[in-house]
Amino acid sequence: MPDRLQDKVIVVTGAASGFGRGMSVAFAAEGAKVVVSDVHEDANAGGFETDGSITTVQEIEKHGGTATYVQCDVTDAGQVDDLIATTVSTFGRLDVMVNNAGVYRRDKLVHEFGVEDLYACFDVNCKGSFFGAQSAIKQFLAQGDGGNIINLVSTAGLQGHPSQSVYNISKGAQAQLTRCLAIEYGRDGIRTNGICPTFAKTSLTRKLFDDKGFDDFFVESVPLKRWGEVADIADLAVFLASDESSYIHGDLIRIDGGETLCRYSV
Ligand SMILES: NC(=O)c1ccc[n+]([C@@H]2O[C@H](COP(=O)([O-])OP(=O)(O)OC[C@H]3O[C@@H](n4cnc5c(N)ncnc54)[C@H](O)[C@@H]3O)[C@@H](O)[C@H]2O)c1
Repeated sequence: MPDRLQDKVIVVTGAASGFGRGMSVAFAAEGAKVVVSDVHEDANAGGFETDGSITTVQEIEKHGGTATYVQCDVTDAGQVDDLIATTVSTFGRLDVMVNNAGVYRRDKLVHEFGVEDLYACFDVNCKGSFFGAQSAIKQFLAQGDGGNIINLVSTAGLQGHPSQSVYNISKGAQAQLTRCLAIEYGRDGIRTNGICPTFAKTSLTRKLFDDKGFDDFFVESVPLKRWGEVADIADLAVFLASDESSYIHGDLIRIDGGETLCRYSV
């Protein structure tokens, strides 16, 4: 078994499906002990999981890896504290915190969105990452030997997009959180980075993927002419979680096939 993350203890939020699941499986395949966390253990319907009939933990164990599931709603600070406490009582310490849990809202203009859409995006995407960072940092500082935080942001945190303002502003806040964490805790050896994908194939984007008009428009706009895959994001996450990236700090790394370089592609 490869060992780029041998014995690192990694918590992933929103890990039942999509990126969280793909990253968890990839971390375990590199030797990490993974705490798979979500509001429910089963994968979301409509995703692109390798085998959605089994849980993330079962998929990891099928390949000989080590993982445990902890239920946690990231919008509740107490539950996030409990998640970190359970991680430490199960595996002894925390090495990497991945704030991945997220929700998406689209297809309305600013004046059409209801306050519930605004709160949903802010509560999960922004507040959830803030709570995750707070709990992880307290544990990292207590351990006294650094730490590593990875936030699943988005290209939506780096630029504006039409018809999804509530999502974009929550991702913009998450991008700023990434920068603030890097500035405040670099001196403690706690690295923080953000991963910024464009549209990739998960349950979150299923409706768009199935919409032929959107699919044609999107693929045309990407210089590499394809959707992002969960594996693309998982590969980057493994690198950021490993010591191979030890001088990368405070970065918001685009992983978008070149989409944000231009308005449209040739
Ligand atoms: N798929 C994309 O195109 C894309 C692009 C850029 C960024 N992202 C971001 O990547 C992250 C993962 O998205 P995904 O595409 O894998 O989506 P997904 O819907 O497949 O998975 C998201 C997971 O988060 C969980 N979740 C939702 N609310 C939660 C809460 N309150 N507490 C704990 N878990 C919760 C869900 O149960 C689900 O398992 C999100 O932050 C999303 O904004 C996705």
